[in-house]
Parts: sequence; structure tokens; C-alpha cells
Amino acid sequence: MQTVTTLEMLRTALASLRAGGARIALVPTMGALHEGHLTLVRRAQAEADHVVASIFVNPKQFGPNEDLDAYPRQLAADAAMLEAEGVALLWAPTVEAMYPQGFASNISVAGVSEGFCGAARPGHFDGVATVVCKLFNQVQPDLAFFGEKDFQQLAVIRTMARDLDLTRPYADNIIGVPTVREADGLAMSSRNRYLSPEQRAQAAALPRAMQAAIAAMEAGADVAATLAGLEAALVAGGFASIDYAALADARSLAPLAALTAAPARLLVAARIGGTRLIDNMAAGPALK
Ligand code: PAF
Repeated sequence: MQTVTTLEMLRTALASLRAGGARIALVPTMGALHEGHLTLVRRAQAEADHVVASIFVNPKQFGPNEDLDAYPRQLAADAAMLEAEGVALLWAPTVEAMYPQGFASNISVAGVSEGFCGAARPGHFDGVATVVCKLFNQVQPDLAFFGEKDFQQLAVIRTMARDLDLTRPYADNIIGVPTVREADGLAMSSRNRYLSPEQRAQAAALPRAMQAAIAAMEAGADVAATLAGLEAALVAGGFASIDYAALADARSLAPLAALTAAPARLLVAARIGGTRLIDNMAAGPALK
């Protein structure tokens, strides 16, 4: 595996990977890799000739009081994991390479980016859309893979690709991969390492309470009352506060007051100590 840190090196490396019409898949990450990321890589390997992974802790998607400085950085260990998975190329730009002096553009996707994490983290999805658009233009992949763990992020990226008529990749070639979970159900996240052992044990209340809420709603329970019960269960289980717990249409992310014949998603963000955890699960009919 080759690691490249400048656009010039990236273009040279990509030209030789693409020789003979090989299909390239991109797996964008912020590093601190875990089994969830490696699952994206394996899916990408199965569907393309070569996998390019990127590692870039994107300052534009962190708010002023968020964890940009604390975010784990472990490039050598991450590179070793990617190499062991057979990744062909690692794109690991510096902040200066990604946002040179004078960088002045911003991509803002209305609608799907506005509620939930968009409301709780102003500017976050502009930062995500801007960097992902740049990564797409830099690597020009045939396919790109993202975790469903960040379900709203995936909707924002697909909307951006569709709205801006991107072709590398086409919106339909932006693939969402189901969330990988720990044995107790907690969604894998680079931020789980912020949890103390006690908080880590308490955090499993999140997927448990979500599954119980989905079972209740699918059995006909009132949505608002079920969501209130879910929030109460999380607080009783040790969570400090709930940013949101909502049922939404799985495609538009419009909030739903009741389950319908359309696929829905239960989305939750909650804080345990100083750590903000997010999770989402399908509810009602499956998304096709
Ligand atoms: O999901 C992430 O790790 C990041 O938001 C992404 C997509 C790599 C953009 O920085």
C-alpha cells in the first residue's frame, strides 16, 4: 500500500491504479479505524478492483467547542490495518493540502441536513459536504462507501451528489453499509474510546432502548409516547442528556408522528458524560 500526502502524489498514484480501466472504490474516513471502517473496506474490495482509503480529520466539520483537538490520531496504526486489508492507496492529506491559504468555498445542502445532528451541530454538515465533494473530485472514484451509522450524513452526501450532478461517483454509487456493532449492541465509533469502563457499560442501554422502542411502535404504540419513554430509559440508564430521539422518513428524514407503509428510521443522539453518541435503526418496512 502506498501512502500519499500531496495532490500531485495522489494523481500519479491514481493514474497507475486506473490503467486498463480498473474500477476504484473510495472509503473516506477520519482515521482511528475500527471494525466498522474495515467492513467498509471489505465491501469496497468486493465491488471494485482497487480500494483507496482516505484519512483526514476535517476541521470544518467540528464546532468551536467540539473534540477536534482530542479526536484520536494514529496514522501509523491505521495504515497498518488498511494495508493488512489489501487497500491499494492511502490518501492522508495535511490540513494545508486540503484547505490551502485562500480557500473560500462551502457546500451547503438544505433540507436533509437541517434537523437532528444539523440542528445540534451548526455547520457540521457543510463541513462534511465540502470535504466529501473535494475527496470525490480528488480521487474520482467509481464507487464510495459510507457507514449507515452516520445515517443523516449519508443522506446529505447522496443529496449533494444528485444536486450537483456528480459522476465520480454517481449518487447511486454511493453505498451505505449497515452499522457494525459490539457484542452488547453498541454501534462501533471512534468516539467510544472516550468512554470510561462504567460509561461504556451504560452505553449499551442506547441500542437496547432503541430496539424496545421500535418493537413497541411496530406493535402499534403511540410514537410520541414511545420516544418520551425511550428518553426516560436513557436518562435512567446513566445518559446525561438527549440531543434528539426521533422517528423520521428513511429517505427524506422528515420527522414522522406515526409509522406508515414507508420505511422509517429511529434516530437518537445522547450524551454520556462528555461524550456524544449517535445511533439509528430501521423501523417499519425495509428500505429497498
Ligand atoms: O464519517 C466520517 O468519518 C467523516 O464525516 C467523513 C465522511 C470522512 C468526512 O470527513
